[in-house]
Amino acid sequence: MKLLLASAGLLAILAMPGPSEGAAPVVLGEVETSMVLTCMEEAKRLVDKAYKERRESIKQRLRSGSASPMELLSYFKQPVAATRTAVRAADYLHVALDLLEGKLRPLSSGPFNITDVLTSAQLNLLYKSSGCAYQDVGVRCPKKDKYRTITGQCNNRRRPTLGASNRAFVRWLPAEYEDRLSRPYGWTPGVKRSGFPVPLARAVSNAIVRFPTEQLTPDQQRSLLFMQWGQLIDHDLDLTPEPAARVAYVSGLNCETSCLQQPPCFPLKIPPNDPRIKNQRDCIPFFRSCPACTGKNVVRNQINALTSFLDASMVYGSENPLAMKLRNLTNQLGLMKVNTRFTDKGRALLPFDNLDHDPCILTNRSARIPCFLAGDTRSSEMPELTSMHTLFVREHNRLAKELKRLNPRWDGERLYQEARKIVGAMVQIITYRDYLPLVLGPEAMRKYLPRYRSYNDSVDPRIANVFTNAFRYGHTLIQPFMFRLDSQYKPMGPNPRVPLSQVFFASWRVVLEGGIDPILRGLMATPAKLNRQNQIVVDEIRERLFVQVMRIGLDLPALNMQRSRDHGLPGYNAWRRFCGLPQPKTVGELGTVMKNLDLARKLMGQYGTPNNIDIWIGGVAEPLNRNGRVGPLLACLIGKQFRNLRDGDRFWWENQGVFSSKQKQALAKISLPRIICDNTGITTVSKNNIFMSNTFPRDFVSCRTLPALDLSSWRSTD
Ligand code: HEM
Ligand SMILES: *[C@@H]1O[C@H](CO)[C@@H](O)[C@H](O)[C@H]1NC(C)=O
Ligand SMILES: *[C@@H]1O[C@H](CO)[C@@H](O)[C@H](O)[C@H]1NC(C)=O
Ligand SMILES: *[C@@H]1O[C@H](CO)[C@@H](O)[C@H](O)[C@H]1NC(C)=O
Ligand SMILES: *[C@@H]1O[C@H](CO)[C@@H](O)[C@H](O)[C@H]1NC(C)=O
Repeated sequence: MKLLLASAGLLAILAMPGPSEGAAPVVLGEVETSMVLTCMEEAKRLVDKAYKERRESIKQRLRSGSASPMELLSYFKQPVAATRTAVRAADYLHVALDLLEGKLRPLSSGPFNITDVLTSAQLNLLYKSSGCAYQDVGVRCPKKDKYRTITGQCNNRRRPTLGASNRAFVRWLPAEYEDRLSRPYGWTPGVKRSGFPVPLARAVSNAIVRFPTEQLTPDQQRSLLFMQWGQLIDHDLDLTPEPAARVAYVSGLNCETSCLQQPPCFPLKIPPNDPRIKNQRDCIPFFRSCPACTGKNVVRNQINALTSFLDASMVYGSENPLAMKLRNLTNQLGLMKVNTRFTDKGRALLPFDNLDHDPCILTNRSARIPCFLAGDTRSSEMPELTSMHTLFVREHNRLAKELKRLNPRWDGERLYQEARKIVGAMVQIITYRDYLPLVLGPEAMRKYLPRYRSYNDSVDPRIANVFTNAFRYGHTLIQPFMFRLDSQYKPMGPNPRVPLSQVFFASWRVVLEGGIDPILRGLMATPAKLNRQNQIVVDEIRERLFVQVMRIGLDLPALNMQRSRDHGLPGYNAWRRFCGLPQPKTVGELGTVMKNLDLARKLMGQYGTPNNIDIWIGGVAEPLNRNGRVGPLLACLIGKQFRNLRDGDRFWWENQGVFSSKQKQALAKISLPRIICDNTGITTVSKNNIFMSNTFPRDFVSCRTLPALDLSSWRSTD
């Protein structure tokens, strides 16, 4: 039996369940197409208005110096150029769907699926009128290409957008949302997940992650550089943009100051007896990641603003306008732009970003040093990261100059591309030869990353949505200080150990407090933090993340867990199954997997079932692989991702025809310590493996003992 309902231009046909159909179909029928279009118009108006207000407000607040930490954060995650276009189209689509749903939901009872009430022609219409369809227009790839594109497009010739920037993540398992489509678990009070209440992310962080910093165990076999390399290459691989408009679309609410939960705000609630935040009505602000244009499938997914490939895109950018802006085009030398106002004792610093109102300045008003400009927008997030970016820009310029000496007739484009190609190979070699074995351990390395054979165009090189959460394992390695050492590797006065909370966004510390050498020495000669089951993440980023400039310190572990729900990521056991690992059901079984019954009890106390454990905490809680720094589950997720990034990359450095065999032999000898020698005033560096050596002078050698890259096979005959 069908019932006709007309309301405010809406024609919905509700199918009443017949006796034979049980309770299954609740809403079925048709919506007038004019209604669909009206909602799209309305969505565009709301989104455009919110974008505009957002821009005005952040400009005004930056000008007056009252920008909040969330605004600083949002500045770093602010979509640029092509990302903005992609994000806005998806925003239109999802806000229009929200509006439609808001109008239809009152007419239904029980679970509701918007795709059931829209015809495929109407979905198509939404897809087109939002601008999402525009992103799928056919891409033509050149027949011959010597170099990677900046956007990653055409790396895979059969599917040219695989691995390209501003595309959706790949999902290795279907999304899990409270309403199946878009709403994260934990959104609606009382809604259970596989039969159990969803704990507050902050409560899990308090109960399981928190420990007194004095108890921190230094890792005897990892340097702090091991942590820093992880963040650097993460910023080569993924950046998940948040909405450009930070004001809730429908209500005009500001999610930074208000604790109301309305899209796109998903604030973290405060549990009772929180060790820091006494007012339970307060919250930790959180913005949902932008939805992606997902084609006919309207289940929410998220966007990667970067190329997925390990291609040094954090140096060169993932979009053409940015890539051009980073180059020195005043001559034919193939150089990257450097800072023209300051140097680091004569060596190059990154150029400054040229915004009218710059948030880094707020970390020290009298110093007036703006944020840096690099291939990834997060380069000023901490000075250690800035130092690594700076090192590779210097290396590019060093290589370009050497290549010019060997090939005086090469033009700027050729010099730039050849130097870029070498830097990309260096990042791949250091990551796969030196870094990953120390992350995964030898057994997982053999299992997930067997020897390279050749490029396989059936391998999907996209970053998996779950990887953006799993690879945050690196947060467990972070020390609570930035360490700086002088040329004798002695603590450098007057501030040799600056608490991390005092260095976020502090570009002035690089420019005015001694440059990158003391910071790189600190990374080489200080042990990383060891991840132990009762010492997971330091309070410096669990209580005081970005506190210097904000009304409330953020909790990074809690953000990680909230983010996995925001992204609709399945829980612990679903990923264990995906990886072919046993799935614990009881506290005893979980105790066996964790080799720690006490920890298993705590996890069960929070989640009720191992199924629901958020992927990040489940992953980092596992006992570490032998000689690795992740457990079996994260080794699988990280190992599979890096295998795809290698075997699915047509420009992988060892693939046939990318480099000549002489060039490959030369490249095989490069090392990160030698790159440090070549581009800084440092003359004594860690011996390889640089990620393992952490004690001066025991593990250190003179630069003279390390082979320099022999570029003779780059002399061309053409
Ligand atoms: C001082 C050090 C670090 C700080 C302050 C930091 C901070 C952050 C913050 C604020 C986010 C976004 C959180 C959210 O809202 O969801 C994030 C994301 C992330 N972090 Fe870290 N992080 C650091 C080091 C690392 C390291 C060492 C690694 C890996 C080895 C890492 C991997 C990641 C990844 C993969 C993401 C997701 C990126 C994306 O796709 O948007 N981070 N981090
Ligand atoms: C919604 O319904 C459509 C059509 O019946 C179905 O294909 C789709 O899987 C459903 N979506 C969800 C999230 O359940
Ligand atoms: C561009 O290169 C020239 C020649 O090396 C140099 O003098 C100039 O400062 C560079 N400009 C920038 C912005 O890096
Ligand atoms: C700000 O920078 C100046 C150097 O320009 C430095 O002397 C001062 O100590 C810094 N202020 C703070 C609060 O660190
Ligand atoms: C290429 O990759 C696909 C997908 O992973 C796999 O099925 C196939 O066996 C691989 N081919 C070769 C030659 O390794």
